[in-house]
This record gives sequence, structure tokens and C-alpha cells, in this order.
Amino acid sequence: MAKDTARGRGIAIIGFGGLGRTVLHRLSEDGIPVAAVLVRAEKVAETAAMMPSGVAAVSRIDEIPAEVELVVETAGHAAVAQFGEAVLRSGRDFLIVSSGALGDRGLEDRLRRAVGETGRKLLVASGAIGALDVLQAAAAAGPVDVRYIGIKPPAAWKGTHAEKLVALSDLREPATFFRGSAREAVGLFPKNANVAATVSLAGSGFDATEVLLIADPSGGRNIHRLEIRSALADASFEIEAKPLPDNPKTSAVTAYSVVNFVRTGGSAISIAGA
Ligand SMILES: NC(=O)c1ccc[n+]([C@@H]2O[C@H](COP(=O)([O-])OP(=O)(O)OC[C@H]3O[C@@H](n4cnc5c(N)ncnc54)[C@H](O)[C@@H]3O)[C@@H](O)[C@H]2O)c1
Repeated sequence: MAKDTARGRGIAIIGFGGLGRTVLHRLSEDGIPVAAVLVRAEKVAETAAMMPSGVAAVSRIDEIPAEVELVVETAGHAAVAQFGEAVLRSGRDFLIVSSGALGDRGLEDRLRRAVGETGRKLLVASGAIGALDVLQAAAAAGPVDVRYIGIKPPAAWKGTHAEKLVALSDLREPATFFRGSAREAVGLFPKNANVAATVSLAGSGFDATEVLLIADPSGGRNIHRLEIRSALADASFEIEAKPLPDNPKTSAVTAYSVVNFVRTGGSAISIAGA
């Protein structure tokens, strides 16, 4: 029996990779109605064959069933750019995990305008980081100094801009190979940009948020650290991400931040309209 949720009567998911599959399967197990999964046009038939009953595979926003009130993005930065305005202008709220897309000022402006003009919500899932409630409260009270530190083993930085900044294979101790603003980090490390972007959107913005990226050869751990200094509170938060079985590059907690939001309506950042 399908349940209504804090997010209305139906949701659609963009993307059917590690996160999209996990979210769909978990919500289906919980009896929460997923009406459609949006995939690339060439994947529709193959995806339709894998869908539980009642879930449509589509490739366009105008094919999403009318009862859907919330669209969830689990497909990457390009999908936020491709579908964001259409989702909001179709009268639905849009929950994204690929928050790094908003590091592009033009896209951020377009989506904020769509929020302002439609009254729909653009929401950013907490994803792989926590303590965003404290950060948002501190930012509401006044200026906040925010630093995000991302620590991964050298192998996890291979294939990124880090290779140009540090000899990853030769490291014997942790190396801070990047220190700069979240805006710069998102531009240089788009595949590792989402947590820095989410922290920026919750706190003091892409230009004022400091980011340090570290390659640490001493263990296989994938760590996100958040440091907050403000008049209201000083706080620090650290999380060691455990991988999603369907995609070891993605943290499992990200999938469940979406599941939790759909179930309870809690823990997402709402991006103000313009
Ligand atoms: N906020 C966070 O903390 C956080 C953490 C991990 C991942 N992410 C984001 O989540 C995204 C998805 O992660 P994943 O592990 O599921 O990746 P994945 O590569 O396993 O799956 C992404 C899926 O989306 C599909 N896709 C891509 N562009 C599409 C488009 N335009 N239309 C339809 N489908 C499209 C791909 O074909 C793929 O199947 C990542 O790209 C990343 O941006 C965010």
C-alpha cells in the first residue's frame, strides 16, 4: 500500500546510477510512491524493463506523471543544468545532490529566478556532510568563517586536477595540494565539488568559504571536515564516508539523506528565489 509522505503524493528521480537505484529501491521497500525515473533517451527501454510495477521510465520532464510534486536529481552537474529550470517551471520542487552545479553563477541565477517566479522550492540534500543546521543557524545570526577540508587517499585523487599539483604516487605523508575558495575548488575539482558547494550554500557562499583538499597516504579513509567560527558558536564536524555498494566513489549517506528527506521533509537547504 503506497503511503503519502512529507513530500506529497509522488516523486520522480533523475538518474539511475548508484544513488538513483538505492533511493528507488529503498523508497519502494518503504511503500513510498516513485512515479517515474528519468534516464537518457537511449536507456529508456532497458530501464523500463528493470522498473518495479507502477514506475515509468521516461527521458523528458513533460513525460513525468502529473501527480509528481517533487523531482530528485541523482545524475550529476550537467543534469541540474539541463533539467533544473524545466522542473521548477513545471510546478514541482527540485531536490538536488549535485550541488556543485550551482558554482556556475549563470546557472545559480537562472534557477534562483525560476524559484522566485514559480514559488517552487530548489532544495539541496545534505548529502555526504552534516552539521548544516548549526551552520545555517550561525549564518542567520551574522558573519561566519567556514572551512571545509576534504581528505582522501592519493589514489582517489587520480584523474583529477590534483595530479598537476602534487606527485600523488610518491606521497609519504599528507599533502595539502589545494587551498582556496569553494568557487575555485568547484571549478578545478568538479567531481569532488558537491560537499564544498553544499557547505557554501548553507553558510557564507562560494567565494567566502575556504576549502582545503588533502591527499593522505596513511589510510584508505575518505573524510569530510567542517569547521565553523562565528559569534553564535564555534563548531567542528567530521564524517568518514562509507561507500555506496553500487558506486564506491559515492558515499552511502548521500543516498539516505535523500530517502530521509522524502520520508520526513527534513534536512535540506532551501535556496532562496530571486
Ligand atoms: N552532495 C553530495 O554529497 C554528493 C555525494 C555523492 C555524489 N553526489 C552527486 O550525485 C551524482 C550521482 O551519483 P551516483 O553515484 O549515482 O553516480 P552514477 O554515475 O552511479 O549515476 C549517475 C547516473 O545518472 C545518469 N545521467 C547522467 N546524466 C544524465 C542525464 N542528463 N539524464 C539522465 N540521466 C543522466 C548516468 O547515466 C548514470 O546512470 C554524482 O554525479 C554527484 O554529482 C553528490
